[in-house]
Amino acid sequence: MNYDFDKILNRKNTNCLKWDFLKERFGADNLLPLWIADMDFRAPEPVLSAIRKTAGQGTFGYSGRPQAFYSSIISWMKKRHGVKIDPEWIVVVPGVLAGMCTAIRAFTKPGDKIIIQTPVYPPFSSIVTTNNRKLVINRLKIRNGRCEMDLAALEKQIDKRTKMLFLCSPDNPVGRVWEKQELEKLSRICLKNNILVISDEIHSDIIFKGHKHVPFLSLSAETAKNSITCLSPGKTFSLAGLYISAIIIPDAKLRKEFYREVEAAKIEASEPFAITAFEAAYSHGEKWLEAALEYLEKNADFLVDFVSKRMPALEVIKPEGTFLAWINFNKVSKNPDTIRNLLVKKAKVALMTGSNFGPGGDGYYRLNFACPRSILKTCLERIEKVF
Ligand SMILES: Cc1ncc(COP(=O)(O)O)c(C=O)c1O
Repeated sequence: MNYDFDKILNRKNTNCLKWDFLKERFGADNLLPLWIADMDFRAPEPVLSAIRKTAGQGTFGYSGRPQAFYSSIISWMKKRHGVKIDPEWIVVVPGVLAGMCTAIRAFTKPGDKIIIQTPVYPPFSSIVTTNNRKLVINRLKIRNGRCEMDLAALEKQIDKRTKMLFLCSPDNPVGRVWEKQELEKLSRICLKNNILVISDEIHSDIIFKGHKHVPFLSLSAETAKNSITCLSPGKTFSLAGLYISAIIIPDAKLRKEFYREVEAAKIEASEPFAITAFEAAYSHGEKWLEAALEYLEKNADFLVDFVSKRMPALEVIKPEGTFLAWINFNKVSKNPDTIRNLLVKKAKVALMTGSNFGPGGDGYYRLNFACPRSILKTCLERIEKVF
């Protein structure tokens, strides 16, 4: 089967946040958008055909989740990540963030502290503060050009009110695929201090050669019981707007408490298109993913090569996973408005501003390279002209 990731899709005039809402987000319309983290690729054909079949029914009532839905997650996790999931552990909600917010309300009280490690996906901080919990920020440190967790600093920040830690695995935006040893050290600290780990593994299927995603719950039985893992095919298969996530909770008591909050907010997922697409993606999407990974890695190589050869004032490290590149513009200017103005007004590209990702993000921009290579090339050439 040939997959045409080079094909440019016209996403304009489809209510597409990435392409149609640039004026609202960036103050200008005619930008090349490589900002929000969704793909400019058509989803796998088996997923599209499952969605068409559902659409063809012509009725869109409440959906249940068949056994095949749960089996698709179990076999995906076993095959792709070598981990055994018990079907009982799975709770299904409309999206990873919905699951994380539910975990906050189920397992912490207002005023409790939640640790995040920045730079990280911006809602990690906003869902803590909007739920009236206290944010504890532990900055990732850069060593030999690679981001690492600063676990010594993390330990120092822990006190009796520290109840939860959000792990972004792999990390959006820095593209780190965490290694087993780092995760084990983190887990030991959390177990010792009764800190529950919420492991957001939404990007865990986009892993490049030479790296391996280690599911947090696979570390040990003890770690599994002290963790909640959020999975979703949304980023992997160009389905981000369908909003569905499998929340994996191995500990029965935690699961009961989590489920009580799901019931209290009435958020259990029962949306027909999301359920159909989820099952089809995990059951029949693997070949497409293999091809997409190859294409994405070539995009990553192209980008790193372009930046290092043609824009030496910028710095970028090849991401180990995710379709996101984290580009350092600090040598160009220390003034964030100057860079933003150049990108938006002169280069006419829309990238995500690094400061949104918390401490450590100033002067960086995140570029989403899940797009045809010709779009990526045009974007980089426009940046090159201006910088
Ligand atoms: C790390 C991470 N977590 C969660 C999400 C959002 O997940 P959902 O739309 O399922 O709530 C994103 C989207 O970009 C993300 O990058």
